[in-house]
Amino acid sequence: MPTVPSPVQTILDTIGNTPMVKINRMAQDIPGEVWAKVEYFNPGHSTKDRMALKMVEEAEKDGRLQPGGTIIECTSGNTGMGLALAAVVKGYRLICTMSDKQSKEKMDVLRALGAEIYVCPTHVSPDHPDSYYSVARRLNGEIPHSFFPNQYDNLDNRDAHYESTGPEIWEQTQGRITHFVVGVGTGGTISGVAKYLKEKNPKIQIWGIDTYGSVFKKYHETGVFDENEIYGYITEGIGEDILPKNVDFSLIDAFEKVTDKDGALATRELARKEGLLLGYSSGSAFQGLRQLKHLLGPNSVTVVLFHDHGSRYVGKVFNDDWMRERGFLQEPIHTAGDAVSTQSHLPLVSIATEEPLSNAIVLLKKYGISQLPVRDVTGYIGVVDESCLLIALSQGKGLDALIRSVMKAPLKIVSASTPLAEVISRIGKEENAVLVETKEHTFRILTKHDMLLATSLPL
Ligand SMILES: Cc1ncc(COP(=O)(O)O)c(C=O)c1O
Repeated sequence: MPTVPSPVQTILDTIGNTPMVKINRMAQDIPGEVWAKVEYFNPGHSTKDRMALKMVEEAEKDGRLQPGGTIIECTSGNTGMGLALAAVVKGYRLICTMSDKQSKEKMDVLRALGAEIYVCPTHVSPDHPDSYYSVARRLNGEIPHSFFPNQYDNLDNRDAHYESTGPEIWEQTQGRITHFVVGVGTGGTISGVAKYLKEKNPKIQIWGIDTYGSVFKKYHETGVFDENEIYGYITEGIGEDILPKNVDFSLIDAFEKVTDKDGALATRELARKEGLLLGYSSGSAFQGLRQLKHLLGPNSVTVVLFHDHGSRYVGKVFNDDWMRERGFLQEPIHTAGDAVSTQSHLPLVSIATEEPLSNAIVLLKKYGISQLPVRDVTGYIGVVDESCLLIALSQGKGLDALIRSVMKAPLKIVSASTPLAEVISRIGKEENAVLVETKEHTFRILTKHDMLLATSLPL
């Protein structure tokens, strides 16, 4: 007979002791057993309740937080939720700074628990005064008796998982666990759990799931903090453009990157095939496990930690329009517009006639592309690509030569409604792409590579 939980004094006493659920249909092609540590059973519906309470209680102990004080934190939502529960029960004011890519649902839920929210731009560097890190720091300086937990560098974060999540996983698998897989943001979950598990059995493999656009994987593999790895991405909660103190790289055996699309699709699949309505990073964690499944054997006992509940993502990964707008749902491609629909949230990368050739090289490298439409005030009047830049350099032109002196004839412009087959039949041997004009009169680039991919999809 399962034990019935005892009555508790406050909601905070229900944090932790979450269930472990076997993954069945989705684990059929994964060697060994796969178990999910389902953290949405925490009262704030995420694992972050554990560390939020720990950070508050440690601050109370040493006086950083005093009765009636204010807690200020930068959060992707879940830590805010844990802090909100602690603040309500313990009588603190809570201010959360959040980046504008976080779902509206997360913000509304925090407001429902009395938190004040400051929404900050996502696409600024962490040291920019408007970033959600900087705004939290500034408010902490301005508001008397305020406490800034700073989940990134506050090691109480990982200690919470060392003290509770790690021991629970060890006990629930009766010490049989061989692999632990989890998304990495502040690093608190992975580092705390990894420390506990490796102390019990140093052979347990710890795999961190990262996103494209984040620095973790490269830093772990090379020791280089590469700013070129940083760009905007959609997945919430994992990946970083900083190295938080809570990430203990020495305890992590491998990082695996998962695309926004694959993470989103796996999140939907977990709901439909396992009945687990989970947040976006949980899909990424499961997808990361799939990508590494060749490293598992028949005796592997893998635990993947699912951070939070899917209710906060109903307007996003669980919304077909949202998925379609980002090109995450595979749909028939008939027209040039269909073929570029996956780029609808990205600006067209182009260069001006009067810029130096060196700028073109920087842009090609930064965005991993091979050609740039050239613009002047009248529109797109040329193109530069890898071959014309190489020819210009080999003919003695310097890096300061102007783009207008090296550019080739402009790309053909087609309307979004042009059938893809017609675009393919019209494109010349020497041309590598066309520009597609959308209904809104914006332009997208459609390369031969894109055309090949589009036509190889089942129509
Ligand atoms: C949804 C979600 N997934 C994953 C993470 C990453 O966890 P950690 O910060 O412990 O590395 C977070 C952290 O905020 C999160 O909110």
